[in-house]
Amino acid sequence: MDPKPYSFLHVEDDPLDAEYVQTQLAESGIPCEVTRVETREDFRRALEEDSPDLILCDYNLHGFDGLEALQIAQNAPQHVPFIFLSGGIGEHLAVECLHRGATDYVLKGNPARLIPAVKRALEEARVRRAKEQAEHDLAHGEKMVLLGQLSAGIAHEINNPITYINLNMETLKDYSEKIREIFLSGTSFITQGDPETPEEVVRQFEGVRSWLRTNGRLVLMLLEDLGRLAQETLDGGHRVADITQRLRRFSRQERQEPVEIDLEECMETALKIGWNEIKAKCTVRKNFASPQPRVKGHPNQLTQVLLNLVLNAAQAITGCGAIELGIKERDGKAVLTVQDSGRGIKPEDVAKMFTPFFTTKASGEGTGLGLYVSRGIVEGHGGTIRAENSPEGGARFTIELPLAS
Ligand SMILES: Nc1ncnc2c1ncn2[C@@H]1O[C@H](COP(=O)(O)OP(=O)(O)OP(=O)(O)O)[C@@H](O)[C@H]1O
Ligand SMILES: [Mg+2]
Repeated sequence: MDPKPYSFLHVEDDPLDAEYVQTQLAESGIPCEVTRVETREDFRRALEEDSPDLILCDYNLHGFDGLEALQIAQNAPQHVPFIFLSGGIGEHLAVECLHRGATDYVLKGNPARLIPAVKRALEEARVRRAKEQAEHDLAHGEKMVLLGQLSAGIAHEINNPITYINLNMETLKDYSEKIREIFLSGTSFITQGDPETPEEVVRQFEGVRSWLRTNGRLVLMLLEDLGRLAQETLDGGHRVADITQRLRRFSRQERQEPVEIDLEECMETALKIGWNEIKAKCTVRKNFASPQPRVKGHPNQLTQVLLNLVLNAAQAITGCGAIELGIKERDGKAVLTVQDSGRGIKPEDVAKMFTPFFTTKASGEGTGLGLYVSRGIVEGHGGTIRAENSPEGGARFTIELPLAS
């Protein structure tokens, strides 16, 4: 089967020149279909309707020039190799064309150069597509690996509470059956009929007492256990809800329009929300530059990031300590810091802290999603987040965000 012919777009307003190029192409044996356009509008339309494999463009056109055509081609969603054909544009302009991204230029007076230039441009485009595909596959592969890690983490984290929720529910079902049996056996005394003699009264009373001795403590134990099981089940449910809520918020993050962020306000809100946990053990120092750097993005998400950082800081402090918050502008970036006087980060944990579900907190206290989600949010803002131990001891987290233009 013949290979699909290339599609060439030829921008040329001189019919003789156009015919000459077509003849050269036909004689070269390159399988191609050539569409000729003359005006800016037709050129635009042809680019929109079909993505050509190559553009051949005369430099001097009626009503628009080659450089403008080059710019229009560069705005197309796909890269298309672009060769200038010219009766003589001078070396200076030729260099300028290449500088602006043209693939090549060929003097009309030197037709022997045309076919090699076309072949080279097609080959370069093929290599470029292959490279883009490879990069895309690699990025996709990395995403899939991350997705795999995340799913495995979520499955593990959710599986644990779900397992004990299910076990507890089984036990609750057993307990309800037991309590029903005990209740029925207890009511049998009442349904036995009224005692008629004092001896019968005594016998019935003895029966009730012995029933109570056997079953009373059991009922009490069952009831106490019921409360514990219900609380544990509720905790498990909350934990699952917490994980799913965080991930939902995370996946929603890119859908809202970015707005100008009041960084100070975000810091203050995070402090306010976390105050209960912070106030007991930390003094808070603030180092906010004025005027504050201008940043665009999603204030709620950034507050969520800062809240996790201040809570982590407070949780890293045993006894009494301090948290220092900073906002400043440095090297054309907004820099936010959260530093604490806590136990610091173990060297072996620095690399793991931002991976999903890494936590050193007791089971039920941390999901290990805080920093993972935070990094996603900060990178979604075009920024970076890093962790290190400060020279004074304790951990320091630094967020750098691009300034609003
Ligand atoms: N300021 C800090 N000092 C020392 N270690 C820290 C600090 N901040 C985070 N870490 C370590 O990084 C781990 C991961 O933090 P991250 O915020 O991702 O999860 P978490 O706080 O454990 O749980 P979550 O935030 O989901 O409730 C923590 O468990 C802790 O070991
Ligand atoms: Mg945390």
